[in-house]
Amino acid sequence: LGDSRPIGVFDSGVGGLTVLRALQDRLPQESTVYLGDLSRCPYGPRPQAEVRRYTLEIGDALARFNIKILVVACNTATAAAYDDLRGRYDFPVVGVIRPGAREAARVSTRGRIGVVATLGTVASKAYASAIACIRREAQVFERSASWLVPIIERGALARRAIQGQLEPTLEEMRALEIDTLILGCTHFPIVRDVFEAGIGKEVTILDSAATTAAEVAQLIAACEIRSAIEPKHRVLVTGPAEAFAERAQAMFRSSPEIEEIDLIADALTGA
Ligand code: DGL
Repeated sequence: LGDSRPIGVFDSGVGGLTVLRALQDRLPQESTVYLGDLSRCPYGPRPQAEVRRYTLEIGDALARFNIKILVVACNTATAAAYDDLRGRYDFPVVGVIRPGAREAARVSTRGRIGVVATLGTVASKAYASAIACIRREAQVFERSASWLVPIIERGALARRAIQGQLEPTLEEMRALEIDTLILGCTHFPIVRDVFEAGIGKEVTILDSAATTAAEVAQLIAACEIRSAIEPKHRVLVTGPAEAFAERAQAMFRSSPEIEEIDLIADALTGA
């Protein structure tokens, strides 16, 4: 019989597409509906309360698409609102922080873990507390690189310039002798090569895409909600999507139809 409802996935912009791609690779039979909150991106520098409000608005909007799981494919939103989202709906909610933290705690050789994330995620200390739950003696060093998000959104990926600007942060991480580096923002895997070149081969780099997809796969198996129909994929945005469309095209090697929605008006009309 199966459960053909889609999986809802969202981020402030293109970052969550890294998670969406991992989900579609891992669960090719599942339908998805992706929402990029382009009109309010970036989330990273905003106060937690504001990000929480946006996140609940988006959760409610995706709930109207009759989703079976909500994946918060944004670390900043997960840090600000995961606890408020859980229990708000009659479907499970998966965030990106716990899966990445768990993997880091597992693979770290000496328990020295670096996290590069947005200002909001770093301020929340969400990674440090998630890792501490699993591996108490681990030391977690969190630094922000929020400036990188708008650059990735615009698609202005001048790698040499990004590497130069990232160097002080990575130098600090090297001096701290981390053995594992978490890309704690879903935008960052898009320039993973820059992080790799800057941090050196001895450091294991992790992102939340594959680990989050694995968690969703487990949930689908455990809840017996696998889809049995041909999958459909929808992509929604809340603002102008030119650069977003280019990134999506580059990542998925196809041009998905992008639908613009109005969160506030749709909430009022119940659309
Ligand atoms: N991609 C998001 C994250 O994982 C948000 C980036 C932003 O909007 O600042 O944190």
